[in-house]
Amino acid sequence: MIIIKTKREIELMRKASAIVAEALLAIKGYVAPGVSTKELEQIAEDIIRSRGGRPAFKGYRGYPSSICASVNDTVVHGIPSSTIVLKEGDIISIDLGVVYRGYIGDAAITIPVGDIKPEVKRLLDVTEKALYIGIQQARVGRRVSDISHAIQSFVESKGYSVVRSFVGHGVGRSLHEDPQIPNFGPPGKGPKLKEGMTLAIEPMVNAGRHEVKVLEDGWTAKTVDGSLSAHFEHTVLVKKSGAEILTKWD
Ligand code: MF3
Ligand code: CO
Repeated sequence: MIIIKTKREIELMRKASAIVAEALLAIKGYVAPGVSTKELEQIAEDIIRSRGGRPAFKGYRGYPSSICASVNDTVVHGIPSSTIVLKEGDIISIDLGVVYRGYIGDAAITIPVGDIKPEVKRLLDVTEKALYIGIQQARVGRRVSDISHAIQSFVESKGYSVVRSFVGHGVGRSLHEDPQIPNFGPPGKGPKLKEGMTLAIEPMVNAGRHEVKVLEDGWTAKTVDGSLSAHFEHTVLVKKSGAEILTKWD
């Protein structure tokens, strides 16, 4: 069942999402060679709590941290660690969720560490553009898979592949609500989008093949072929006029 949010609920999601965006930008400003992913978690915690929020991921299905910090060939769900230290030329995806008075905002960005190669920058640019192309479809009257199809067509036209085993989702009082939003598939399928739906759209794009494997920690998902992977995500509100991005970070 897809939950339509009231005005009041949307206001709380707006607030949660603003904290998400602020924390992501703070982390982006701190990312540099020599920084560990554990330090990034601390930055997020400080901001989230000082704004009256709570990390949405911590304890979710036993996930041990407030953020996911996924370096290079890690696709998603990298667990922050003091032994994972960033170096020049790396990329790091930060995924972050905040609960504010019971309502959740969820977003992710991939950040370059120092100077990165032009072909790596291209992967980041294509993934972020794919997110906005998906968001353009999140309007009243479209169907869920119109988002999926737009993302897949764009990403594959650029020679990359979309991850299949993780998907976007509805978001609200729960981190994961209906509908599921795959980043691939034919257009015109799935539920019709209605005013007041809130969706987390999140393309994960691999430079090589789409397959991923999960490590023995039960979380860390890496590309099977060792290729780089990028991830961008926004929480959006479906409206007649188009989607409103709640987690706007610029
Ligand atoms: N944005 C991701 C998602 O919505 C992050 C979830 S991580 C978890 O699936 F730890 F909370 F599971
Ligand atoms: Co999400």
